[in-house]
Parts: sequence; C-alpha cells; structure tokens
Amino acid sequence: MADSHHQVWQRAVVVTVEEIATGIRRIVLRPELPRPTRPGEHVDVRVLVDGAPVVRSYSVVDAAADGSELALSVFRTPASRGGSVFMHSIGAGQTLEITQPLQNFPLRIGAPSYVLLAGGIGITAVAGMAALLRRLGADYRLVYAGRSRPAMAYLEELAALHGDRLQAHVDDEGGALDVDGLVAGVPEGAELYMCGPIRLMDAVRRAWAERGLDRTGLRYETFGNSGWFEAQPFLVRIPRLGVEAVVGSDESMLEALEREGVDMMSDCRKGECGLCQVKVLDRAARIDHRDVFYSDRQKEPGTAMCCCVSRAVPAAPVTTSDERPSAVLTIDVP
Ligand code: FES
Repeated sequence: MADSHHQVWQRAVVVTVEEIATGIRRIVLRPELPRPTRPGEHVDVRVLVDGAPVVRSYSVVDAAADGSELALSVFRTPASRGGSVFMHSIGAGQTLEITQPLQNFPLRIGAPSYVLLAGGIGITAVAGMAALLRRLGADYRLVYAGRSRPAMAYLEELAALHGDRLQAHVDDEGGALDVDGLVAGVPEGAELYMCGPIRLMDAVRRAWAERGLDRTGLRYETFGNSGWFEAQPFLVRIPRLGVEAVVGSDESMLEALEREGVDMMSDCRKGECGLCQVKVLDRAARIDHRDVFYSDRQKEPGTAMCCCVSRAVPAAPVTTSDERPSAVLTIDVP
C-alpha cells in the first residue's frame, strides 16, 4: 500500500531481537516486499504509543544484499516519546508495519575524503556508509562518540572492520569529543555526514560555519528525538480555531494537533523540511527547538517552530503540583 508520500507500507516479521549494548536492541526484520537497501536509508515503523498508532523512523543499520532481512537498532531513551518503549516490547515472530527503505540521507560518492560522525545511537545511520566507503577504497574517517563502551553499539565490530580509521571518543574514559578540534581537522573539500544528539550536531554546525566551510559539505540525519530539555507535557492553543490540546511527553505537538482534527502540513516529521512550522503568537514557556531547519538566529526570537519535533518547556522551574502543564503556547497554523 502506498500512502500520500508514495511510501510503500508492508508487513515485516521480527526474526530476532537481541540486546547489543546498554539499552540498545538490534531487531532483525523480514519484510514481505524486500528490496536492496542503500547506506543512509531508514524505514518508518508504525508503533503504538498509549495504544494509538504513530510513525517513528529508524535507520537500517545493515541488510542482506537482496533486502530480504534488515536490521534496526533501537535505543530506549529515558525520556522516550514512546516509540522506543514499544520497540523494546516486541519479540521474535511478531509482525510490524514498516515502509520500504526511504532515503533522505544519501551518501554522495566521489568526494576527495569523508568524515562520518556518530553520537550514540546515531551510529545506526552512518555504519553502513562507513562499510561502503571501505569497500570503495575511499579516504574516510569514522568518528564515534558515546557515554561509555558498554553503551556504544557495534563498537567492537566497527573497530575490527575499520581499524585505525575508527576514532572512538568515550566520555567516561575522559575522551569526550572536541568538536572544534574535529572540525578544524576536516580536510579541505571533505564531506561530513553526522547523526547524533542535537547538541552535538548544533556544535558541529556552528564550528563548520565559523571555519567558513562549504555548507553543502555538511550533511546530517536527525530523527528529532533529542532536545535540550527533557520532554514534558505542555499546553497548546490555537485561538483562531478554538483548539486547545495537551501535548503529552511521548507525542509531538504535530501528533497532538492532528489528533484534535487540525489540518496540518508535514513531510519529514524529523525537523528537517520546515513544512510543519507554526507561528508562535504568545508563550508562557521556553521553546526547546529540536529541528535542524532553522538557523540559530531564526530560533532566537521564539516566534516560530517546527511542531513535528520542537516542544515547549516551563520558562522557570515548576513549583506547584498543579495537574495542568505550566508551559503554554499560543500559536497559529498556516
Ligand atoms: S515535517 Fe519536516 S520539519 Fe516538521
């Protein structure tokens, strides 16, 4: 079945589920409509959050050559939007609804050199790229940053495969990644592909701009699931439509507004395309911008946001035990 974005949905049987690192499960699926997968691709998966189906995206870490089996790896985030909890509840033999692999993080072949940067579970988006660049004999470096070795999925396999092209930065060994140093060392003309927490990607984007490197050389995948603040419920109002909704901590504002029947525009649902942007008319809140669509300068005034990923958080610490969320946004939609 193809939906409005021409995505082909299909059923996939869960073949194996395995805990491969702290809080990370590798899930191997057998899709009913297999097709070969390219590096950087992901699948959308229908997951259940509080019993309601929502769509979450997961990178394809690796796959059989004919696509008959593909592996995802899912980190159960402490402040989960619900998808990872569901993905950690499934077992072998179950059936999921997934799309065929989708590409919005393509690897451009032919650059003089490459830096692949992964923060935490972001390794799932770049591991396949590294494997292909190795096979092609390209000049590449794989930089993998994580909290601790047990929390870094695939670290041993990557070390065995890539040897000293892998550079691991482990926080609890005092080896935290120096972003400015990394960007300063990027060779002229190189392309950098990254996937990781928004803080890491923001820091790289800033250092990249400061060094005056070509913006088209910086490519990233974000699944919009990590912000500056923990996700918590907030209230959103659209006075023009008489709508008021509480956005739960495990759903996006876009999902909450769709649930209320508001006709919303969206495409990537990952904070990349800007199609879901809404105008902020008033706010008793801070905005936790989680997109990579706006520049820092555009984010600063807090007058617009990408509602598929960005959230509101209380402007000051909450001191009452009031049931109603203290963070309130008043918005209008296009
Ligand atoms: S739908 Fe693309 S940024 Fe929100």
